[in-house]
Amino acid sequence: MNIAVFCSGNGSNFQAIINAARSGLFNARITLMVCDNPDAYALSRAKKEGVKALLIDIKNFPSQETFEARIMDELIKEDIGLICLAGYMRLLLSGFINKYREKIINIHPALLPSFKGTRAIRDAFDYGAKTTGVTAHFVNEDMDAGPIILQETIKIEENDTKEMLEEKIHKLEHRLYPEAIKLFIEGRLKVIGRRVNIS
Ligand code: GRF
Repeated sequence: MNIAVFCSGNGSNFQAIINAARSGLFNARITLMVCDNPDAYALSRAKKEGVKALLIDIKNFPSQETFEARIMDELIKEDIGLICLAGYMRLLLSGFINKYREKIINIHPALLPSFKGTRAIRDAFDYGAKTTGVTAHFVNEDMDAGPIILQETIKIEENDTKEMLEEKIHKLEHRLYPEAIKLFIEGRLKVIGRRVNIS
């Protein structure tokens, strides 16, 4: 199966997915990286790893529909069977999601449904949560709200700084995301309503 990873920034999860594929954790190729930010470090990673990158700026399109249609063309061309969002800072339109229903996965740096949004690590820390974690989930029309594939917890210790927590979260993401992808690739995920059964 061919995988496309969507990034807007650093791309450390993109890197973790590449590393996992290379190590043979799952039998799939990372054939495309879609990026909406010309300054994203993920672009350098793609170059270094020899992964085709589609850098696409929404400002060059009259609408989000046409922007996503261009991405869709590329996904079809590359015969993509799974889309992994990895720090992609844009919500997808329902038309797009419909075409890849239950074939789009996201990683979120908190225990959903707590701390949705783009500041999840900071929000959990500032809230004084004792436990947070990481969630891998399918993507639906609502932000950070699709059926949950895997979740794992992390304790926030009293002497943890925000930076220490960030480091712990990213380390966990880099293990959990490839595990979720592996389950998908092996056809072991079954979505029943809000539930994802793992066989
Ligand atoms: C990660 O924390 C991920 O959970 C969130 O955005 C961040 C992306 O980091 N969705 P990176 O670009 O993969 O390093």
